[in-house]
Amino acid sequence: MKTRLFTIPRPEGYEQEVRAAAELLRSGQLVAIPTETVYGLGANALDPEAVRHIYEAKGRPSNNPLIIHVPSAEWLERYCENVPELAYRLARRFWPGPLTMILPAKPVVPKATTGGLDTVAVRCPAHPVALAIIEAAGVPIAAPSANTSGRPSCTSAAHVQEDMNGKIAGIVDGGDSAVGVESTIIDLTGEKPCLLRPGGMPLEALEEVLGSVGVDQAVYRELHEGEQPKAPGMAYRHYAPQAPVTVVTGAPERSAAYIRSRAKADTGVICFDEYAQLFSDLTVERLGSVHDQAAQAHRVFEALRAFDHTQVREILAQCPDPSGLGLAVQNRLKKAAGFHTVEAL
Ligand code: TXA
Ligand code: MG
Repeated sequence: MKTRLFTIPRPEGYEQEVRAAAELLRSGQLVAIPTETVYGLGANALDPEAVRHIYEAKGRPSNNPLIIHVPSAEWLERYCENVPELAYRLARRFWPGPLTMILPAKPVVPKATTGGLDTVAVRCPAHPVALAIIEAAGVPIAAPSANTSGRPSCTSAAHVQEDMNGKIAGIVDGGDSAVGVESTIIDLTGEKPCLLRPGGMPLEALEEVLGSVGVDQAVYRELHEGEQPKAPGMAYRHYAPQAPVTVVTGAPERSAAYIRSRAKADTGVICFDEYAQLFSDLTVERLGSVHDQAAQAHRVFEALRAFDHTQVREILAQCPDPSGLGLAVQNRLKKAAGFHTVEAL
């Protein structure tokens, strides 16, 4: 298949590209779309056949459900049963934006989309091009991150091309993803709201609205055999470059010293900007300043992906503390490492 590339030329005047992408989606094809978190691999969420192609293109297990993307909270009622007032409160505060809510699904949402569950994940993305495409398609768009299953998520159209060229009908290039990590997922179907995946909306922001929030264990640690995460996707090894990753926790000056003492000539290093000069003889990906969590989130997948174009045989990564966006960045690094971490004392 020839994959068409639609480049969004300017911040406005892209009706033609939007119409073409929406047309492909309505006809059951796959189109990668830009969002503020990461690129999504879109299909008509109400078309089970189209949705099956997503699993095929990504090589994703079919029991791992998809997020449906809507243009506003007004669509919640169409696809979700018994929407609690709380969902509207969260939507008013955080949508469009990097927050996904799990709610009971209406039967109109195919089981292919929900991975067989009777709940559905819903998000309204904060990207004008994504919103325009969903509006023009007139259907919710199911979109997992546009990477091949197991690889780091895509934060640019070039990343999507690496993984999906020839496999999908189109890629809409809307520039680099502003946030850089996926949405925060909150489950609203239990007694108490529960965080299933940390992401672009910090837990602290949700706590301001919800009070106390439960956190699924899969956020922090590898699950034991037989344990099931509430978000099926959290069970899989993820975001992994080809070379094995070790996350080095502890105060930044200690983790930098640890990495320096352990590194060999073919070690790749992910570090905060302030420590990059320590590793000038090695292949280094900077994560941003130790004080700039937004920069770290923006860079983390690009950094992980970059090593696949090098000869490094192992990767040692500094790791932010878990406050704010640091929780999501830490989670992505640890998952890339298969939770292989050492603490620098
Ligand atoms: O920022 C994002 O959320 C991006 C952009 C494209 O919107 N999408 C994304 O989708 O990250 P994906 O498929 O890569 O991750 C969705 C996660 C998976 O871990 C999946 O298991 C979980 O959401 N999920 C989806 N539906 C669910 C449900 N009904 N219950 C629990 N977890 C669910
Ligand atoms: Mg993903």
